[in-house]
Amino acid sequence: MLVQIPELLNADQLVQMRAALDGADWDDGRVTAGAQAARVKRNRQLTESHPLARRLGEIILQQLAQNSLFTSAALPLKVFPPLFNRYESGGHFGKHIDTAVRLTREAPYRVRTDISATLFLSASDEYDGGELLVEDTYGTHSVKLPAGHLILYPSSSLHEVRPVTRGARLGAFFWVQSMVRDDAQRALLYELDRSIQDLNQAVPEHASMTRLTGVYHNLLRRWAEL
Ligand code: NI
Repeated sequence: MLVQIPELLNADQLVQMRAALDGADWDDGRVTAGAQAARVKRNRQLTESHPLARRLGEIILQQLAQNSLFTSAALPLKVFPPLFNRYESGGHFGKHIDTAVRLTREAPYRVRTDISATLFLSASDEYDGGELLVEDTYGTHSVKLPAGHLILYPSSSLHEVRPVTRGARLGAFFWVQSMVRDDAQRALLYELDRSIQDLNQAVPEHASMTRLTGVYHNLLRRWAEL
């Protein structure tokens, strides 16, 4: 399931992040890639220990914690501290599947990557190329979102970032270990939750609302791993 979270960051936060990132000292992106991914990865990034990545990552984590759409779609158990990357001058990341378990120096230490997330930090008209292509059973999805928008996609999917042929594409990326590991089960819960929210607006007093909400929680209880 691919889910778009619009406007995770507000305009002030975007300006603040862009100003900080424009003056940052970037590392070679291959330092966090596994052996297969390192062969196809050409970009620059701020790694986990970089003070700027920690400071800006904290803002993203705070926004995620307040975002009901993210909570509903991801059912997060652990979120890997956000990292930042920069693609320019033909920079790209060829087809790969993300590492299954990511290690981090501080809590939560180990994150099973159920969901991959990309937060776009450059406006779409600032660069050419740079689309995120995600393959699933319905074919290949091309994703290029406005600055401040987030895309969630299954970490199990083959994906790539196309070469950036003009300008620079700045982004943040991270992984989520979900309470519900299976993407299909998580997608069902997301659809059910959204339908219940809609019905709560339309027919809040309906006698079946209590039982329907109970079905959601009883499915989550059945499927959640903590
Ligand atoms: Ni990836």
